[in-house]
Amino acid sequence: MATQRRLPKVSELMEFVPGVPSLPTNRNAVARAGDLADLRRIAKRRAPAMVFDYVDGAAEQERSADRAREAFDRVTFRPRVLRNVGQIDPSAEIFGRKVGMPLVLGPTGFTRMMHQAGESAVAVAAQKAGVPYALSTMGTTSARDVRDAAPTGWNWFQMYVLKQREVIMERLSMAQDSGMDVLVVTVDTAVAGNRLRDVRHGMTIPPTIRWSQIPAMATHPAWLADFLTTEPLAFTTAGGDANNIADIAKSMFDPTVNFDDLAWMRDKWNGKLVIKGVQDVTDAQKLAEIGVDGIVISCHGGRQLDRAPVPLETLPEMRASVGDDMHLFLDGGVRSGSDVAAAVALGADACFVGRAYLYGLMAAGQFGVEKMLSLFHDEYVRTLALLGLTSTDQLTIEAVKVRDAAVRS
Ligand code: FNR
Repeated sequence: MATQRRLPKVSELMEFVPGVPSLPTNRNAVARAGDLADLRRIAKRRAPAMVFDYVDGAAEQERSADRAREAFDRVTFRPRVLRNVGQIDPSAEIFGRKVGMPLVLGPTGFTRMMHQAGESAVAVAAQKAGVPYALSTMGTTSARDVRDAAPTGWNWFQMYVLKQREVIMERLSMAQDSGMDVLVVTVDTAVAGNRLRDVRHGMTIPPTIRWSQIPAMATHPAWLADFLTTEPLAFTTAGGDANNIADIAKSMFDPTVNFDDLAWMRDKWNGKLVIKGVQDVTDAQKLAEIGVDGIVISCHGGRQLDRAPVPLETLPEMRASVGDDMHLFLDGGVRSGSDVAAAVALGADACFVGRAYLYGLMAAGQFGVEKMLSLFHDEYVRTLALLGLTSTDQLTIEAVKVRDAAVRS
């Protein structure tokens, strides 16, 4: 029987022409995505496994990541009816400033590896949605370029405690010069978590294309064309020798970091100071004494310690212990606007997200991040309406009930 042939699409041919930016072939599928799981599936198709797994994966047996996510599944909402929900206002306040919804696009390293549009695309999408974006120390776009891309966005800066304090000072002044007025200091990376998917792929940063990976790369032509025809990937905010993640962490991060270093940072930074990666109530109390403005209850998306405490479970006791003056953020496993509503009801001022926007970015660059943000917005508004609420400040513990985790015998 004769082989059925068809003319190739122009978009398919273009992907093989060097120097021509890849066309947004995923736009239609992304536009039709019904939830984040759809965006994740598209991202998985577009990005080579090594890149997708760097985002999607977590440390060791990935228990922390799974448990952080699973906790959201145990939340039951308690809807009220006949409450006139004709007008819903999803906005929230963070440090006295109004944001589109209680959401922050959290810091993620090496974002241009997921899609060449990288951090600038994320910042522009965040600006459009009116939510903050935190540029990572391990960013691949400079603070200045992020500011130029999204000059009216609320851009924050995330810092790891690096061994060289003078480098910290230099980065902080670059961030401040670029108008970044909220500093997020991440404190859960004394050493790097053991991310087995990366180990098994032989993942390096930036990715080196070895013979064994050529088939995987060749079947992802849009990603490959981007990778080969755009500015080579490099750390723009941190510097340092590029290699595997554990070596990067070992060479740059300071394992001796302690509360005195944080007091030093408090002294040096005159904007808002948020500490990310706090998982214990007594640590939170000590940080409150140092005078930090906010805490992110976070297990780094399960990418550091496996079997870490579940952020959503820690949240109510943390809120009770630090009181209402401290800003409390939460991240890990937030995959929808209704997850955001659940966390806010349990005491969070807002959620950070990492993978959620990276799935969007991998799927279709800025368009994909915008799609993720619009899904979250619509889900959040719909959840409020179906709960019989009309604004973020009405989301209280009354709106939720959390079932206990199943006890494994
Ligand atoms: C991260 N995260 C992170 N955190 C940080 O403080 N600095 C960083 O450079 C990075 N880099 C990074 C890369 C990638 C690919 C991921 C997925 C995550 C952690 C991130 O800010 C956040 O804590 C988690 O992503 C939250 O979990 P979810 O939303 O991904 O489930």
